[in-house]
Amino acid sequence: MTQKADQMQLGADHVVVRVPATSANLGPGYDALGLALAVHDEVEVRLVAADEVIVEVEGEGAGEVPLGEDHLVVRALRRTLDLAGATPTGIHMTCRNVIPHGRGMGSSSAAVVAGIVAARALLADPRAVDAATVLRLATEFEGHPDNAAPAIAGGATVAWVDDTGPRAVDLEVDPSIEATVLVPDARLATSAAREALPAQVAHEDAAFTAGRAALLVEALARRPELLFEATEDRLHQPFRGKVLGASSELLRSLRAERLAATVSGAGPSVLVLSTRDDAARRDAVLTSLVGGAAGWRVLRPGIDTAGARARRLSGHPDALRSAR
Ligand code: HSE
Repeated sequence: MTQKADQMQLGADHVVVRVPATSANLGPGYDALGLALAVHDEVEVRLVAADEVIVEVEGEGAGEVPLGEDHLVVRALRRTLDLAGATPTGIHMTCRNVIPHGRGMGSSSAAVVAGIVAARALLADPRAVDAATVLRLATEFEGHPDNAAPAIAGGATVAWVDDTGPRAVDLEVDPSIEATVLVPDARLATSAAREALPAQVAHEDAAFTAGRAALLVEALARRPELLFEATEDRLHQPFRGKVLGASSELLRSLRAERLAATVSGAGPSVLVLSTRDDAARRDAVLTSLVGGAAGWRVLRPGIDTAGARARRLSGHPDALRSAR
Protein backbone atom coordinates (compact mmCIF):
# COMPACT_ATOMS: atom_id res chain seq x y z
CA MET A 1 0.00 0.00 0.00
CA THR A 2 1.52 3.35 -0.99
CA GLN A 3 1.30 6.33 1.32
CA LYS A 4 -1.09 7.98 -1.15
CA ALA A 5 -3.39 4.97 -1.15
CA ASP A 6 -3.29 4.92 2.67
CA GLN A 7 -4.37 8.51 2.73
CA MET A 8 -7.34 7.68 0.53
CA GLN A 9 -8.45 5.05 3.03
CA LEU A 10 -8.02 7.38 5.98
CA GLY A 11 -10.47 10.16 6.78
CA ALA A 12 -9.04 11.48 10.04
CA ASP A 13 -5.74 11.43 11.89
CA HIS A 14 -6.92 12.14 15.42
CA VAL A 15 -9.73 10.34 17.24
CA VAL A 16 -10.84 9.67 20.78
CA VAL A 17 -12.75 6.58 21.85
CA ARG A 18 -14.70 5.87 25.02
CA VAL A 19 -15.46 2.24 25.82
CA PRO A 20 -17.33 0.70 28.77
CA ALA A 21 -16.39 -2.01 31.24
CA THR A 22 -18.45 -5.17 30.97
CA SER A 23 -19.55 -8.02 33.17
CA ALA A 24 -19.84 -11.35 31.36
CA ASN A 25 -21.82 -14.51 32.16
CA LEU A 26 -24.26 -12.87 34.66
CA GLY A 27 -24.38 -16.26 36.38
CA PRO A 28 -25.89 -18.89 34.08
CA GLY A 29 -25.06 -17.23 30.73
CA TYR A 30 -21.55 -18.61 30.52
CA ASP A 31 -19.66 -17.22 27.48
CA ALA A 32 -22.95 -15.77 26.19
CA LEU A 33 -24.54 -13.03 28.32
CA GLY A 34 -22.90 -9.71 29.10
CA LEU A 35 -23.73 -6.30 30.50
CA ALA A 36 -22.02 -2.95 29.84
CA LEU A 37 -21.16 -0.91 32.93
CA ALA A 38 -20.68 2.84 33.04
CA VAL A 39 -17.00 2.70 33.95
CA HIS A 40 -15.09 3.90 30.91
CA ASP A 41 -11.62 3.79 29.45
CA GLU A 42 -10.72 6.55 27.01
CA VAL A 43 -8.18 6.17 24.23
CA GLU A 44 -6.87 9.06 22.13
CA VAL A 45 -5.10 8.15 18.91
CA ARG A 46 -3.08 10.39 16.59
CA LEU A 47 -1.58 9.15 13.36
CA VAL A 48 1.83 10.70 12.74
CA ALA A 49 4.21 10.73 9.79
CA ALA A 50 7.19 9.64 11.90
CA ASP A 51 7.81 5.90 11.92
CA GLU A 52 7.24 5.44 15.66
CA VAL A 53 4.66 4.11 18.11
CA ILE A 54 4.42 6.01 21.37
CA VAL A 55 1.89 4.85 23.97
CA GLU A 56 1.18 6.59 27.24
CA VAL A 57 -0.97 4.86 29.84
CA GLU A 58 -2.62 6.77 32.68
CA GLY A 59 -4.51 5.07 35.51
CA GLU A 60 -5.12 1.33 35.52
CA GLY A 61 -2.34 -0.69 33.92
CA ALA A 62 0.17 2.19 33.99
CA GLY A 63 3.65 0.71 34.34
CA GLU A 64 2.33 -2.80 33.72
CA VAL A 65 1.35 -3.07 30.07
CA PRO A 66 3.75 -3.00 27.10
CA LEU A 67 4.13 0.42 25.48
CA GLY A 68 4.54 0.06 21.74
CA GLU A 69 3.45 -2.32 19.00
CA ASP A 70 2.61 -5.01 21.58
CA HIS A 71 0.06 -2.83 23.37
CA LEU A 72 -3.34 -4.46 22.98
CA VAL A 73 -5.05 -1.31 21.69
CA VAL A 74 -2.29 -0.79 19.10
CA ARG A 75 -2.55 -4.42 17.95
CA ALA A 76 -6.32 -4.17 17.51
CA LEU A 77 -5.99 -0.78 15.78
CA ARG A 78 -3.34 -2.10 13.36
CA ARG A 79 -5.29 -5.28 12.62
CA THR A 80 -8.40 -3.27 11.75
CA LEU A 81 -6.58 -0.69 9.61
CA ASP A 82 -4.75 -3.49 7.79
CA LEU A 83 -8.05 -5.18 7.05
CA ALA A 84 -9.35 -1.93 5.55
CA GLY A 85 -6.20 -1.51 3.47
CA ALA A 86 -4.75 1.39 5.44
CA THR A 87 -1.36 1.02 7.12
CA PRO A 88 -0.28 4.33 8.64
CA THR A 89 3.32 4.69 9.72
CA GLY A 90 3.32 6.17 13.19
CA ILE A 91 0.91 6.18 16.10
CA HIS A 92 0.81 8.35 19.20
CA MET A 93 -1.69 7.06 21.70
CA THR A 94 -2.83 7.99 25.20
CA CYS A 95 -4.89 5.51 27.24
CA ARG A 96 -6.79 6.96 30.19
CA ASN A 97 -7.77 3.78 31.96
CA VAL A 98 -10.36 3.43 34.69
CA ILE A 99 -11.50 -0.18 34.24
CA PRO A 100 -9.66 -2.35 36.79
CA HIS A 101 -7.34 -4.94 35.21
CA GLY A 102 -7.52 -8.66 35.92
CA ARG A 103 -10.79 -8.38 37.86
CA GLY A 104 -13.39 -9.76 35.43
CA MET A 105 -14.60 -6.35 34.26
CA GLY A 106 -13.67 -6.72 30.62
CA SER A 107 -10.57 -4.50 30.56
CA SER A 108 -8.90 -6.45 27.76
CA SER A 109 -12.11 -6.52 25.70
CA ALA A 110 -12.40 -2.79 26.25
CA ALA A 111 -8.83 -2.34 24.95
CA VAL A 112 -9.47 -4.48 21.88
CA VAL A 113 -12.80 -2.79 21.12
CA ALA A 114 -11.21 0.65 21.63
CA GLY A 115 -8.53 -0.18 19.05
CA ILE A 116 -11.04 -1.48 16.51
CA VAL A 117 -13.47 1.40 16.98
CA ALA A 118 -10.65 3.97 16.84
CA ALA A 119 -9.42 2.43 13.58
CA ARG A 120 -12.92 2.52 12.19
CA ALA A 121 -13.27 6.21 13.03
CA LEU A 122 -9.95 6.96 11.32
CA LEU A 123 -11.18 5.51 8.03
CA ALA A 124 -12.60 7.72 5.29
CA ASP A 125 -15.52 5.31 5.17
CA PRO A 126 -16.05 3.64 8.58
CA ARG A 127 -18.66 1.40 6.96
CA ALA A 128 -15.72 -0.48 5.43
CA VAL A 129 -15.60 -2.19 8.86
CA ASP A 130 -19.20 -3.15 9.55
CA ALA A 131 -20.72 -4.18 12.90
CA ALA A 132 -20.25 -7.90 12.19
CA THR A 133 -16.58 -7.31 11.41
CA VAL A 134 -16.08 -5.29 14.61
CA LEU A 135 -17.42 -8.24 16.64
CA ARG A 136 -15.44 -10.78 14.63
CA LEU A 137 -12.17 -8.89 15.08
CA ALA A 138 -12.79 -8.42 18.81
CA THR A 139 -13.56 -12.12 19.20
CA GLU A 140 -10.35 -13.06 17.36
CA PHE A 141 -8.43 -11.39 20.16
CA GLU A 142 -10.59 -12.57 23.05
CA GLY A 143 -11.61 -16.07 22.02
CA HIS A 144 -15.24 -15.55 23.13
CA PRO A 145 -17.60 -12.65 22.39
CA ASP A 146 -19.42 -12.23 25.73
CA ASN A 147 -17.50 -9.14 26.85
CA ALA A 148 -16.88 -7.68 23.40
CA ALA A 149 -20.58 -7.64 22.42
CA PRO A 150 -21.79 -5.37 25.26
CA ALA A 151 -18.60 -3.26 25.07
CA ILE A 152 -19.48 -2.54 21.44
CA ALA A 153 -23.25 -2.16 21.77
CA GLY A 154 -23.87 -1.10 25.39
CA GLY A 155 -26.67 -2.53 27.54
CA ALA A 156 -27.10 -6.28 27.84
CA THR A 157 -26.34 -8.67 25.03
CA VAL A 158 -26.41 -12.36 24.28
CA ALA A 159 -23.59 -13.49 22.02
CA TRP A 160 -22.98 -16.78 20.28
CA VAL A 161 -20.78 -18.23 17.57
CA ASP A 162 -22.13 -20.03 14.52
CA ASP A 163 -20.81 -21.01 11.08
CA THR A 164 -20.73 -17.36 10.04
CA GLY A 165 -18.69 -16.28 13.07
CA PRO A 166 -19.58 -14.52 16.31
CA ARG A 167 -22.99 -12.89 16.50
CA ALA A 168 -24.86 -10.91 19.15
CA VAL A 169 -28.25 -9.39 19.84
CA ASP A 170 -29.26 -6.70 22.31
CA LEU A 171 -31.44 -7.58 25.28
CA GLU A 172 -33.89 -5.35 27.03
CA VAL A 173 -32.94 -4.18 30.53
CA ASP A 174 -35.58 -2.91 32.94
CA PRO A 175 -34.54 0.64 33.90
CA SER A 176 -35.03 -0.12 37.60
CA ILE A 177 -32.10 -2.60 37.58
CA GLU A 178 -28.94 -1.39 39.29
CA ALA A 179 -25.46 -2.92 39.19
CA THR A 180 -23.01 -3.00 42.07
CA VAL A 181 -19.53 -4.42 41.56
CA LEU A 182 -17.39 -5.57 44.47
CA VAL A 183 -13.79 -5.43 43.30
CA PRO A 184 -11.10 -7.21 45.31
CA ASP A 185 -7.44 -6.22 45.33
CA ALA A 186 -6.63 -9.74 44.17
CA ARG A 187 -6.46 -10.43 40.45
CA LEU A 188 -7.28 -13.57 38.53
CA ALA A 189 -6.22 -14.46 34.98
CA THR A 190 -9.16 -15.59 32.84
CA SER A 191 -7.00 -18.48 31.62
CA ALA A 192 -6.61 -19.77 35.21
CA ALA A 193 -10.36 -19.48 35.81
CA ARG A 194 -11.05 -21.43 32.59
CA GLU A 195 -8.57 -24.13 33.51
CA ALA A 196 -10.57 -24.76 36.68
CA LEU A 197 -13.56 -25.95 34.62
CA PRO A 198 -14.24 -29.63 33.98
CA ALA A 199 -14.44 -30.97 30.42
CA GLN A 200 -17.96 -32.28 31.09
CA VAL A 201 -20.86 -31.49 33.40
CA ALA A 202 -23.85 -33.55 34.42
CA HIS A 203 -26.85 -33.28 32.09
CA GLU A 204 -28.97 -32.30 35.08
CA ASP A 205 -26.70 -29.31 35.82
CA ALA A 206 -26.60 -28.26 32.16
CA ALA A 207 -30.42 -28.38 32.00
CA PHE A 208 -30.74 -26.46 35.27
CA THR A 209 -28.39 -23.72 34.02
CA ALA A 210 -29.98 -23.48 30.56
CA GLY A 211 -33.35 -22.90 32.22
CA ARG A 212 -31.95 -20.18 34.46
CA ALA A 213 -30.23 -18.45 31.52
CA ALA A 214 -33.53 -18.38 29.64
CA LEU A 215 -35.28 -17.02 32.73
CA LEU A 216 -32.59 -14.35 33.12
CA VAL A 217 -33.45 -12.84 29.74
CA GLU A 218 -37.01 -12.29 30.98
CA ALA A 219 -35.90 -11.17 34.45
CA LEU A 220 -33.62 -8.53 32.94
CA ALA A 221 -36.28 -7.28 30.57
CA ARG A 222 -39.50 -7.29 32.58
CA ARG A 223 -39.34 -9.36 35.75
CA PRO A 224 -36.44 -8.09 37.89
CA GLU A 225 -38.10 -9.65 40.95
CA LEU A 226 -36.89 -12.98 39.48
CA LEU A 227 -33.22 -11.92 39.25
CA PHE A 228 -32.19 -14.02 42.24
CA GLU A 229 -33.56 -17.28 40.84
CA ALA A 230 -32.49 -16.32 37.32
CA THR A 231 -28.81 -15.86 38.26
CA GLU A 232 -28.35 -19.38 39.65
CA ASP A 233 -25.59 -21.27 37.86
CA ARG A 234 -24.17 -24.77 37.97
CA LEU A 235 -21.97 -24.55 34.90
CA HIS A 236 -18.92 -22.57 35.98
CA GLN A 237 -19.07 -20.80 39.35
CA PRO A 238 -19.20 -23.96 41.51
CA PHE A 239 -15.97 -25.20 39.87
CA ARG A 240 -14.13 -21.93 40.30
CA GLY A 241 -14.39 -21.67 44.08
CA LYS A 242 -10.75 -22.48 44.69
CA VAL A 243 -9.30 -19.97 42.21
CA LEU A 244 -11.82 -17.32 43.27
CA GLY A 245 -10.72 -17.42 46.92
CA ALA A 246 -12.43 -14.78 49.06
CA SER A 247 -14.80 -13.85 46.23
CA SER A 248 -16.34 -17.29 46.40
CA GLU A 249 -17.15 -16.88 50.09
CA LEU A 250 -18.53 -13.39 49.49
CA LEU A 251 -20.71 -14.73 46.70
CA ARG A 252 -22.12 -17.40 49.00
CA SER A 253 -22.86 -14.85 51.73
CA LEU A 254 -24.57 -12.44 49.32
CA ARG A 255 -26.72 -15.20 47.86
CA ALA A 256 -27.60 -16.41 51.34
CA GLU A 257 -29.19 -12.95 51.71
CA ARG A 258 -31.09 -13.60 48.45
CA LEU A 259 -29.19 -10.95 46.51
CA ALA A 260 -28.67 -11.72 42.80
CA ALA A 261 -24.90 -11.95 43.07
CA THR A 262 -22.70 -13.59 40.44
CA VAL A 263 -19.02 -13.74 39.66
CA SER A 264 -18.31 -10.92 37.20
CA GLY A 265 -16.94 -12.64 34.08
CA ALA A 266 -14.18 -15.00 35.08
CA GLY A 267 -13.78 -13.09 38.36
CA PRO A 268 -12.68 -12.30 40.89
CA SER A 269 -15.04 -9.28 41.10
CA VAL A 270 -18.59 -9.98 42.22
CA LEU A 271 -21.57 -8.38 40.47
CA VAL A 272 -24.81 -7.74 42.33
CA LEU A 273 -27.94 -7.01 40.31
CA SER A 274 -30.79 -5.47 42.23
CA THR A 275 -33.63 -3.04 41.77
CA ARG A 276 -34.05 0.53 42.90
CA ASP A 277 -36.81 -0.64 45.26
CA ASP A 278 -34.42 -3.07 46.93
CA ALA A 279 -31.50 -0.62 47.24
CA ALA A 280 -31.79 -0.06 51.01
CA ARG A 281 -31.77 -3.79 51.80
CA ARG A 282 -28.89 -4.37 49.34
CA ASP A 283 -26.82 -1.57 50.87
CA ALA A 284 -27.42 -2.86 54.40
CA VAL A 285 -26.19 -6.33 53.35
CA LEU A 286 -23.18 -4.89 51.53
CA THR A 287 -22.26 -2.75 54.53
CA SER A 288 -22.43 -5.73 56.85
CA LEU A 289 -20.37 -7.97 54.51
CA VAL A 290 -17.79 -5.65 52.97
CA GLY A 291 -18.35 -2.23 54.57
CA GLY A 292 -14.90 -0.85 55.37
CA ALA A 293 -13.25 -4.24 54.75
CA ALA A 294 -9.66 -3.87 53.56
CA GLY A 295 -9.02 -5.17 50.08
CA TRP A 296 -12.43 -4.46 48.54
CA ARG A 297 -13.75 -1.57 46.49
CA VAL A 298 -17.49 -1.10 46.00
CA LEU A 299 -18.42 0.40 42.62
CA ARG A 300 -21.92 1.49 41.74
CA PRO A 301 -21.73 2.07 38.01
CA GLY A 302 -24.82 2.75 36.04
CA ILE A 303 -25.57 0.47 33.14
CA ASP A 304 -23.90 1.85 30.02
CA THR A 305 -26.37 1.99 27.15
CA ALA A 306 -24.22 3.69 24.49
CA GLY A 307 -21.42 1.17 23.98
CA ALA A 308 -18.10 2.17 22.43
CA ARG A 309 -18.18 5.66 20.93
CA ALA A 310 -15.59 7.34 18.74
CA ARG A 311 -15.21 11.04 18.11
CA ARG A 312 -13.08 12.48 15.36
CA LEU A 313 -10.95 15.37 16.54
CA SER A 314 -9.69 16.12 13.05
CA GLY A 315 -10.75 15.26 9.54
CA HIS A 316 -14.50 15.54 10.04
CA PRO A 317 -14.82 17.31 13.39
CA ASP A 318 -18.60 17.18 13.37
CA ALA A 319 -18.73 13.41 13.10
CA LEU A 320 -19.78 11.52 16.21
CA ARG A 321 -19.99 7.89 15.28
CA SER A 322 -21.05 4.92 17.28
CA ALA A 323 -19.45 1.55 16.80
CA ARG A 324 -22.54 0.10 15.21
N1 HSE B 1 -17.00 -16.05 29.90
C1 HSE B 1 -15.62 -16.01 30.29
C2 HSE B 1 -15.36 -16.95 31.41
C3 HSE B 1 -15.16 -14.68 30.79
O1 HSE B 1 -16.17 -17.01 32.33
O2 HSE B 1 -14.33 -17.62 31.40
C4 HSE B 1 -15.30 -13.55 29.94
O3 HSE B 1 -15.13 -13.72 28.60
